[in-house]
Amino acid sequence: MRSAALLLLPLAAGLAQRPDVILDEAKVPAYTLPDVLGPVRSPKAWPARREQILELYRTEVFGRSPGRPANQIFTVEAVDQAALGGRAVRKLVTISFGAGPQMHMLLYLPAGKPAAPVFLGLSFAGNQTVCNDPGVPLAEEWVRDRDTKQMVKRTAPESSRGSRASQWQLDAILEHGYGLATIYYGDIEPDFDGGMKYGVRPLFFRPGQTEPAADDWAAIGAWAWGLSRAMDYLETDRGVDARHVAVFGHSRLGKTALWAGAQDTRFAMVISNESGEGGASISRRDFGERTTDLNTHFPHWFCLNFRQYNGREDQMPFDSHFLLALTAPRALYIASAEGDLESDPRGEFLAAVNASPVWELLGKPGIGTDRMPAVHQPIMHTVAYHIRAGKHDVTAYDWTQYLKFADIQWGPARRNGRSR
Ligand code: GCU
Repeated sequence: MRSAALLLLPLAAGLAQRPDVILDEAKVPAYTLPDVLGPVRSPKAWPARREQILELYRTEVFGRSPGRPANQIFTVEAVDQAALGGRAVRKLVTISFGAGPQMHMLLYLPAGKPAAPVFLGLSFAGNQTVCNDPGVPLAEEWVRDRDTKQMVKRTAPESSRGSRASQWQLDAILEHGYGLATIYYGDIEPDFDGGMKYGVRPLFFRPGQTEPAADDWAAIGAWAWGLSRAMDYLETDRGVDARHVAVFGHSRLGKTALWAGAQDTRFAMVISNESGEGGASISRRDFGERTTDLNTHFPHWFCLNFRQYNGREDQMPFDSHFLLALTAPRALYIASAEGDLESDPRGEFLAAVNASPVWELLGKPGIGTDRMPAVHQPIMHTVAYHIRAGKHDVTAYDWTQYLKFADIQWGPARRNGRSR
């Protein structure tokens, strides 16, 4: 992402320069991964094991989230049947919960097609950044100040329209017969330490509660919850094929997409773009960013219990392959970038490898190899992986692969817009 890259540069550069940060494969310590299947030998036994792993992730990593609130309301604010020069139907939908923050969903569906599969993802800087469309309201609540890099309460500038278009590739998505649904993550909770009070979490505090308990959800949990609430809406929209919704996210929002997909099996596909530490990459490798870095620089992202693993990744009763396995037997795509060493591309690949026995147990092909592919040589089974050239970002190359993967998983018929 362009401005997140800007924003994160000082931190990233800091990490790379620190002498104790491992960015060299030869320095990765020897480690033993816990076995994702444990004692499980039959598909029938998997759901109980899955629940155990989910519970580990709830108590130790992301915290416990509430479910769908009873007072959730969907308001379709506007529908344009001929948006983007007639190529798309554009819907603006507000999802609200009585009091408090509202989520503003932007939904594009391919024009003239019956129920379309949809890619759903949170954005870093507002709906208006996804493509240059004057019909999209500017994000109003929070924006990141260009100079201070702090989140401030202010309407996003007009100049931000389409500023992240390269990361969404909306034209290609529509051409493949798919839709795109997006929500600004700041609508759910603004991303800074102390942002909690402006987001959805306080709506669920117990009487008298002001701070999260050690296993209460944190910001990533809140963002993932928002994705499930978006899915609640998508299930009601007749223009959407809700049985084929892919949840997508980049970086911290890739961690979020993995957690959303892990908890909510309505997502038929999960796409993690460079989610790195606390996402797809194996923590025990100690390569690149580490648990302590996450909990220090982003203390609001993970539940408080996660801090016990600072510098003690080898004590985790899980590792990231457990998180990935929670998507099985659904479709999973893990993507890395060669220049994004801090996310540990090899660690992301190895998580896919070590999660794959679960797909195989459930009768689906896992990643199928333990040899990391070369740059631009995607592997696409039910578990997919690629590493591309370049830096931490989402690019046209990434989307080309995700669209191809969706076509393979969901059938070429959908590309022509034919319904099932
Ligand atoms: C920081 C953070 C990463 C995260 C990334 C992002 O670099 O250290 O864990 O993935 O931000 O969200 O861009």
